[in-house]
Amino acid sequence: MAPWLRLATALLPLAAARQHDLTARQSSTTVTVNLDQKYQIIDGFGCSEAFQRAVQMSKLSEAKQQYTLDLLFNTTSGAGLSILRNGIGSSPDMSSDHMVSIQPKSPGGPSSTPQYVWDGSDNKQLWVAQEAIKRGVRTIYADAWSAPGYMKTNGNDANGGSLCGVGGATCSSGDWRQAYADYLVQYVKYYREANVTITHLGFLNEPELT
Ligand SMILES: *[C@@H]1O[C@H](CO)[C@@H](O)[C@H](O)[C@H]1NC(C)=O
Ligand SMILES: *[C@@H]1O[C@H](CO)[C@@H](O)[C@H](O)[C@H]1NC(C)=O
Repeated sequence: MAPWLRLATALLPLAAARQHDLTARQSSTTVTVNLDQKYQIIDGFGCSEAFQRAVQMSKLSEAKQQYTLDLLFNTTSGAGLSILRNGIGSSPDMSSDHMVSIQPKSPGGPSSTPQYVWDGSDNKQLWVAQEAIKRGVRTIYADAWSAPGYMKTNGNDANGGSLCGVGGATCSSGDWRQAYADYLVQYVKYYREANVTITHLGFLNEPELT
């Protein structure tokens, strides 16, 4: 289902509730919705085009690209999503359909001079970010799914493992905490050079999944 449609279906029941001052009943459970009671602030709604989704969008015709971007981010002709979440790649290559890292190969050790690689595309996520900004998006959240494998106890960017140097995680290659922080900052710098300000930066995703 298209994100804007999902959003619309989520909002419909609320609209109905307001219209009829509805108290929903289901068997023995009673749910009363009071739309005047506020509990939290919602920063906005967003989407992610990580894991090659941005690449798929880029393969559409120019007209369909604009149509799709408008559906997501345009505040008059689309859902007007205000948050974009990008994936910071950790994979050494593209062959596995993952997101490629800006430092695919170990520079040798945590204190070695970094060997960053920037292709100016980031799996087309940079382009989506620039198009989102054109449509008013200002909150760009870049989140790492993992550190590169060579920085971790299991030598892999998937299947768990820990960043070498954090509590209980020692590696013969050394303590990679500072190198990983520098690496994440470098990702933000590459976007900055392309006039995209990353406002939020995450260093992990689902850390206890395994
Ligand atoms: C948003 O959609 C409207 C209506 O289709 C269009 O005129 C406008 O150019 C779009 N805005 C951007 C920034 O693309
Ligand atoms: C970034 O913005 C500046 C100032 O508007 C402009 O001169 C420059 O060409 C832009 N760079 C990119 C990569 O879009």
